[in-house]
Amino acid sequence: MLVGVQERTIEFGRCRPRRSCPVRSSIVFQPERPSSRMPLPQNLFFKVSKAVHGTSLPPIPQAYKWAASYVPTKSRPILDMSQGVPGLPPPKSVLDALGNYASDPKSCGYCPMTGEPKLRDSLAREIKHVYGCDADVLGDDIALTAGCNMAFVTAVMSLADSGDEVILPVPWYFNHQMTLQMLGVTTVPLPTYSKEGFQPSPELCEKLITPKTKAIVLVSPNNPTGAVYRPALIASFASLSKKHGVALIIDETYRDFITNDVPHHLFVPGHLQKTDCKEFHLPEDWSWRDTFIHLFSFSKSYCVPGHRLGAIIAPSGVMDQVKTVLDCLQICPPRPIQLALQSSLPDLRPFIQENARALAHRHELFRSLLPKTWRIGSQGAYYAFVRHPFTGISATEVCRRMATETGIVTLPAAFFSPETKHASTQALDAYEHGDQWVRFSVANVDDERIKAVCKRLHEIESEFGWEVDAA
Ligand SMILES: Cc1ncc(COP(=O)(O)O)c(C=O)c1O
Repeated sequence: MLVGVQERTIEFGRCRPRRSCPVRSSIVFQPERPSSRMPLPQNLFFKVSKAVHGTSLPPIPQAYKWAASYVPTKSRPILDMSQGVPGLPPPKSVLDALGNYASDPKSCGYCPMTGEPKLRDSLAREIKHVYGCDADVLGDDIALTAGCNMAFVTAVMSLADSGDEVILPVPWYFNHQMTLQMLGVTTVPLPTYSKEGFQPSPELCEKLITPKTKAIVLVSPNNPTGAVYRPALIASFASLSKKHGVALIIDETYRDFITNDVPHHLFVPGHLQKTDCKEFHLPEDWSWRDTFIHLFSFSKSYCVPGHRLGAIIAPSGVMDQVKTVLDCLQICPPRPIQLALQSSLPDLRPFIQENARALAHRHELFRSLLPKTWRIGSQGAYYAFVRHPFTGISATEVCRRMATETGIVTLPAAFFSPETKHASTQALDAYEHGDQWVRFSVANVDDERIKAVCKRLHEIESEFGWEVDAA
């Protein structure tokens, strides 16, 4: 419930109301996100981009600003659960190879625009390992990028023009929304609900599709909710996208942290889908090559976020567009990391699996130690999305006090949500997570820190002096 939050009704950006859309007129939001706009630059003889100026400030530094006013002690250090970064380096073999290639004059030059062919072929083989041996992906279907964020910008620039629309489930990965905003592409929010485990609804999504829609974007496993979308749900979105002639972009940065299932079956042609896969609702003539764009990051699976490597797998008709964009944005992806990984991806599978198991264990530990008054809405891969128990207090205020007074750094759901609201009951329901939900990243803390976080969460219930929700 939105209690104690000053309500404002603001029209939703550039989005106009749509016919047959029950949720668009019901958008709710928490206005408490601190200074989410850049200050206008002073003392310049020229003007800056309106689109960039109109984009929210990156949220992580805002959380770190809160944390900066906490005075850590040896017994009470900062407990940073805000950023989705790996908590360990890659294996020594990767570090050694990186060092060797970085100091080799031969790797100082450009490589082909879409990346080293050997790594692309190797990644195509990993696709078969992860998605099944019938997955139909070749090295030439892949372009390597300087990280997955670069892959997203490239995909959107390849598909959409200013004024077009892209549908994003809410809460969203904020860089996706920020990118769309900077490109002048309208973000159409698709609400998801805690009672549905933050799984997006294809039926609701269909109502948001207009002639301007260029793509539906999913993130699975999700950032910020951690929700893992079932293959059947992803298949429904694929069918929907095909039916309406829009692209389905799935950011699968966290795909290797699914420990009990394949991420989806979209890479398998319709005629090769197993009979028991019928429940996945993929049409007989399904081919990923006319509908689907897959985005991947090496940052999390291989623990190399600073070396900037990602990938985009796109239909050949889009690949020419992708190459044009990449030629301008990056010319080629960073070389030493490509060379370091190109022969070793299969050897690194045990490392990835072990990390995925360790994270799953840490999620369990977190769930078992969290005070019962804090309710987990969804959990998976790097993140747990948790409802705080304080009556009438926004998650932003809870996160601010947790960071400044107890050194627990987290992000409120308002950082992952639209900044506009409409004051209808339906809207309160739609954006409930904008009020009370907090994202905890379990990736870059060890088990001891998880225990320390949960202990402090118990303590703050009395220390903060707020009424605790009995429900
Ligand atoms: C969903 C999602 N996509 C992309 C990225 C960024 O990946 P990269 O480091 O490869 O740019 C992140 C990082 O947190 C993410 O959560």
